[in-house]
Amino acid sequence: MYKQVNNYSMAVDVRGEGVPVLFVHGFPLDRKLWKPQLNGLSDLFQVIVPDLRGHGASEAPPPPYSMEVFANDLNSLLVRLGIKEKVVLCGLSMGGYICFEFYRQYPQRIAGLVLTATRSAADSAETRKQRDHAAAIAASQGINAVVEGMLPKLFSELNYQQKPDLVQFVKEMMLNISLQGLLGSLAAMRDRPDSSPLLDKINFPVLVIHGEKDQIVPVQEAEKMARTIPGADLEVFTDSGHLPNLEQPVLYNHYMHKFLLELNS
Ligand code: MLT
Repeated sequence: MYKQVNNYSMAVDVRGEGVPVLFVHGFPLDRKLWKPQLNGLSDLFQVIVPDLRGHGASEAPPPPYSMEVFANDLNSLLVRLGIKEKVVLCGLSMGGYICFEFYRQYPQRIAGLVLTATRSAADSAETRKQRDHAAAIAASQGINAVVEGMLPKLFSELNYQQKPDLVQFVKEMMLNISLQGLLGSLAAMRDRPDSSPLLDKINFPVLVIHGEKDQIVPVQEAEKMARTIPGADLEVFTDSGHLPNLEQPVLYNHYMHKFLLELNS
């Protein structure tokens, strides 16, 4: 379905009943990232899976894009859906950066948090330069050039070689992003603040899930976050890269189920 959110049309899937769980995709992906979770978790929970502005089937309003803008969109979506109770947030990579901003702005709305393949730190000076380089490539050569460069890094090397259908599924998803969305997200990631000072203040349950073979966010980042967030659980998937929810969906849904049921008990 589509919802009018902050003056643009946002695509969103909502399925199931129970504790609302809001899934936030990474870059340059869209809500199809969460297909195994939409199918596997909506028997017990209300699964909410939006396309961020500029991504997937959502409209791409003009810049500026920022973590604040994305977080505000998500809060407006919850208002539009009439969800008043606290939600569980689950963000992957850039989705995790957005969850930290959501926490900054709307802490009273969060019942629990699942941080997947993400980090709390801001970009280094070198990474900021790479964002601008990627933006220049996209603007001059097109989205395809950025996608081709990034695709192999999203999986463990083994999964990239052995799961061609999954790789193709992700590639098609990446090519769905608008140029506006791609440039906007690169700028939003480049300019995001450091969220590390928030970690030891978090007072709701947190689950950190990370692929041991993540080539984009090293697993040490997850270990550091889990050590710092009071009571956080950490699950490291040995056979996953940057997309553990797609590379090992059964295991991922198992830990999600466990976390969500414990939260509810
Ligand atoms: C993502 O997967 O969302 C991005 O690659 C994260 C990043 O580039 O920092």
